[in-house]
Amino acid sequence: MGALHRGHGQLIKAAQGIGIVQPSSVLVSVFVNPLQFGPAEDFDSYPRDLDADCEVASAAGASALWAPSVDQVFPGGASAQFRIQVPSQLQAHLCGASRPGHFDGVATVVARLLALVRPEVLVLGEKDWQQLIILRHLVADLGLPVKVRGVATVRDDDCMACSSRNRHLTAKQRQQALILPQLLARAARDVEDGKSLDLARLRSAWERSDLKVEYVETVDPFDLQPLQVGRKLSLLAAAVRCGETRLIDHTFLMSRKPIVAIDGPAGAGKSTVTRAFAERLGLLYLDTGAMYRAVTWLIQKQEVDPHDPEAVNKNLENLKLELDLSQSGSQRVRINGHDVTEEIRSPDVTTSVSAVAAHGCVRNALTAQQQRMGINGGLVAEGRDIGTAVFPDADLKVFLTASPAERARRRALDLQNRGFPVPDLVELEAQIEERDRSDSTREFAPLLQADDAVELISDGMSIDQVIETLIDLFRQQVPEEVWPKPSI
Ligand code: CDP
Repeated sequence: MGALHRGHGQLIKAAQGIGIVQPSSVLVSVFVNPLQFGPAEDFDSYPRDLDADCEVASAAGASALWAPSVDQVFPGGASAQFRIQVPSQLQAHLCGASRPGHFDGVATVVARLLALVRPEVLVLGEKDWQQLIILRHLVADLGLPVKVRGVATVRDDDCMACSSRNRHLTAKQRQQALILPQLLARAARDVEDGKSLDLARLRSAWERSDLKVEYVETVDPFDLQPLQVGRKLSLLAAAVRCGETRLIDHTFLMSRKPIVAIDGPAGAGKSTVTRAFAERLGLLYLDTGAMYRAVTWLIQKQEVDPHDPEAVNKNLENLKLELDLSQSGSQRVRINGHDVTEEIRSPDVTTSVSAVAAHGCVRNALTAQQQRMGINGGLVAEGRDIGTAVFPDADLKVFLTASPAERARRRALDLQNRGFPVPDLVELEAQIEERDRSDSTREFAPLLQADDAVELISDGMSIDQVIETLIDLFRQQVPEEVWPKPSI
């Protein structure tokens, strides 16, 4: 809506690198939309400064700025137009509750602007989180051909979220308003430290500083329904009035950093893409298959029958399995002091690993170790049961698969690259199908797609396309504001 500031500048910069066609053109729309203001709201006094907007947009690298009139956007007047109605559950809380009709007006104008411009990507700030979620729903529910990209809230040095309405604040009011972001940030730290959250205390602290609190709520960041703060990510959001100026701000509460679970059958390419994805996002990478392979290596070394649970269990006593999660590239794996990184990839280990991995005792031992490794989050784990048994509360779950023929082709290439003999494709496909069968029919933690996992079938996709798709899915599930690295 104009009155552009550094936050908008950041959106414009972020937009430059994300189009399919490069260099992409970035169009900035400036339109103070009458449909989203209530009768008693500040439509008339909303800050407008088109010359300054042109300067900010151009300095940030925009290709063009478009400032249509109300008549251009809504020929015949806004009241003669179709309106889009946002589902009531998405606007029952936060700003939706205190500004009836506001999000219907936002959705209507954005649908109209998208139809006029037909952009490839719509870039929006996370500052107006409820708006971002509603517009994502709009695009998904109506099948609009545009990608929605959120960008982390930009803050000034004093922590205030950049906002066009900040320019209405006097210097004294700005000082007074600082307690809004400060207490939100403190609440986020407290929750991270395991302390509880007291919304009534927050409210009264703001009221004592002469901020009139419109709402302070915790909701699920994606369905925007009220949520008790727990291990899952939640959104703490507030709207206050400082004098006449309405300010909104939020923070995300989490007791640990994000966790991504990638499961799927043998040879789906999980390791390659997961490792690259972890590196791009600054997440630790945990290859749980390597742990089952290392135990299998040990069982074979001890000449134990991999099908005999008691004999296998004996070898788990005093087991010392080490993985260096922080290391990029091929992850070193040590078992009882032996570096087995290369040996665990041998066809011999591959043949027995499913039998070893099926024992309850093996699963219990390795699952417990994996959960300890993920206690602080900030990690992507791949395997067969990550989303179902190891990290059922993962922020993003992906079931990565491909047809058996495609997986056999990839496995052949992998064996060749590692210098192992390559069986013919028909035999490889049969081996892969047998391993799938054994992994998905075992009694403990079978290979299954979690109910809330996204299925990604990678036939016909390049490695880069799979990685980009994973990053897109991560963006939809994890606000950029809580990413280990702020942006890529
Ligand atoms: O690389 P590939 O697809 O062959 O499999 P892997 O990830 O190295 O895992 C090897 C085997 O370990 C699987 O076939 C499963 O039997 C077992 N596994 C498991 O049971 N649970 C996990 N979380 C990971 C692997």
